[in-house]
Formats: sequence, C-alpha cells, structure tokens
Amino acid sequence: METKTLKKKNLTLKVDKNITLKTLSIEETSEAYVSWLNDYEVTKFTEQKHCKSTLKTVQDFVNQLYFSENDILFGVYHKALHIGNMRLGPINFEHLNAGVGYIIGEKNYWAKGITSKCLKTLIQYAVKDLGLKKINAAYYENNLGSAKVLKKCGFVIEGVKQSNIIFEKERINSIIVGYVSKK
Ligand SMILES: CC(C)(COP(=O)(O)OP(=O)(O)OC[C@H]1O[C@@H](n2cnc3c(N)ncnc32)[C@H](O)[C@@H]1OP(=O)(O)O)[C@@H](O)C(=O)NCCC(=O)NCCS
Repeated sequence: METKTLKKKNLTLKVDKNITLKTLSIEETSEAYVSWLNDYEVTKFTEQKHCKSTLKTVQDFVNQLYFSENDILFGVYHKALHIGNMRLGPINFEHLNAGVGYIIGEKNYWAKGITSKCLKTLIQYAVKDLGLKKINAAYYENNLGSAKVLKKCGFVIEGVKQSNIIFEKERINSIIVGYVSKK
C-alpha cells in the first residue's frame, strides 16, 4: 500500500486573484461559520440540516479533520473573508479515490462561479499533487446549483439512488456522480 503523509499545515491553493482555498484550523472557526450551519437555506440540501451546530461542535469537527490522515478541509476565502468550506476526503490511498463536499455559507457569494472554480482547482491538486484518479460526490436531485457545479467540473452521473431521502416531506432521489482522471 502506498502511504502518503498529507502536508496540510498552511496549505494554500490559489483559485483566482481574490479566491483561495486554505486548510482550515481551529483558529479560523467563527460564529459566522457556525451561523451558516444553522441556516436552513444553506443546509437544506445536506445532512447538516439535521444537526444543531455550536462553536464547540464546529471546532471539534475542524480539529478532527485537521488531524485526519485521510481528509483535507479547506476554507474558501474571498481575500481575507472565510465564505465557505470544501472538503477532500475521505481519501483512500489504496484505491487513489476520494470524496468531495462543499458549502458556500455566505449567501451573497452564491452563483458567482466560486464553487466551480474552487472545485476545478481542488481536482487539479488531487490529481497532480496527490496522484488521485477518482473523485466521488453525491447530491440531492433538486440541488440544481450543485448539479451544475459538478457537471461543469467534469463529473458524470454514475447512478441514481431512487427515493433515497426525505426532502420537505417528499421522497426524492440521490444522484451519485464521479470524476475520473484521464492522466
Ligand atoms: C450549491 C452551491 C455549492 C453552489 O455554489 P456556487 O458558488 O453558487 O456555484 P457556481 O456559482 O459555481 O454555480 C455553477 C452554476 O450553477 C448555477 N447555480 C448556482 N446556484 C444555483 C441554484 N440555486 N439554482 C440553479 N442554478 C444555480 C450558477 O448560476 C452557475 O451557472 P452557470 O454555470 O450557467 O453560470 C452553493 O449554492 C451552496 O453552498 N449551497 C449550500 C450548500 C450545498 O448545497 N452544498 C452542496 C451539497 S451537494
């Protein structure tokens, strides 16, 4: 098995002139970040909506991923402002695959192309720097923004989990997507 030590401390990926992805540590957690996770409009297409977040739960989560050997949790920054998160993980170094997830918590940054650009940058890092070959993701079928982001970044639909989850009292499908590196 190939083992790879993730060099996460102060890892920064430049996305464009104003946007960067930086590994998130406990020092960067804030009440604003907690408030995203308690905002139904932000979390309604994620499992996060079932949890009540506090600074303590957020810090525990950030710490857990910071010290994980198989995950990288990035903060998405517009200049110095923390506007969201993007997670690469869990990473499986035996199969060279990983999951990905993202949230832009500051809603005034939605639909400006930020997640699409960040995900392209993250995939490039995962493939070139970590040698990963496959990235997996999933979304609620009615999460049109996430569907567009993933399609724009080269993910294709690999499966549909029929009637898999409850969304506002209706049973809906989960969509399973994947990105395969050609390199
Ligand atoms: C879903 C989410 C990540 C999209 O991020 P974003 O930065 O707004 O995405 P982008 O700006 O890169 O959008 C890509 C495309 O989707 C479109 N889009 C974004 N949000 C949309 C929405 N709610 N409905 C329809 N289209 C949407 C954009 O206009 C853009 O279209 P274009 O390529 O034709 O210009 C963001 O809305 C979010 O964080 N939502 C809450 C958490 C969440 O749902 N996370 C994903 C769980 S799978």
